[in-house]
Amino acid sequence: MQLDTLGLVHEFLRRTVRPGAVCIDATAGKGRDTALLCRLAGPEGRVLAFDIQPQAVEQTRALLEGEGLQAEVYLDSHANLARYAPPESVDCVVFNFGRLPGGDPRIFTRAESSLQAIDAGLALLRPGGVMAMALYYGGENGDTERDAVLAHLSKLDQRRFSVLVGSWTNRRGQPPIPVFLWKEG
Ligand SMILES: C[S@@+](CC[C@H](N)C(=O)[O-])C[C@H]1O[C@@H](n2cnc3c(N)ncnc32)[C@H](O)[C@@H]1O
Repeated sequence: MQLDTLGLVHEFLRRTVRPGAVCIDATAGKGRDTALLCRLAGPEGRVLAFDIQPQAVEQTRALLEGEGLQAEVYLDSHANLARYAPPESVDCVVFNFGRLPGGDPRIFTRAESSLQAIDAGLALLRPGGVMAMALYYGGENGDTERDAVLAHLSKLDQRRFSVLVGSWTNRRGQPPIPVFLWKEG
């Protein structure tokens, strides 16, 4: 099967998230990223997941229950991440921006809260921690969030963070942009 952005993000997570890790899924959606984080962090780990859409919280909880996995799933904006964990205590933060397939079409991630959430996530990451993103754009999402997120990431202090932004140079359409970030140790 051909690799796509979500597949690439999952491969990155498999290679970086270790048993016992503390992980945040900042956009729970259907819960697939949350479930992967739970499997990778294992029973000694802690996984927190956030979504502002009740339908997403329900779907994530149902998926976890069906797979025998456990996470703390919160109906709250990722802009409030800092309320849920101490600074520099988190190993991995995942963002899968955009909208919930089959969900309320009026609800999607937006530049202002996404930037707040990224900054909150950066403060929560421990040195050596990682962040992974799938950044959607075009169509109903427009380009505002993509432009704001990429501009924000490009201004991060290179002594504190390393950010890699991918581009699918020969893919048609508007495939989400994969972003990988490391907090320096
Ligand atoms: C592309 S989906 C996420 C897919 C998900 N990671 C999965 O594995 O199925 C994006 C999600 O972000 C959620 N969202 C939008 N704004 C949000 C916010 N401010 N805080 C948290 N979640 C938000 C949407 O409700 C939607 O479910």
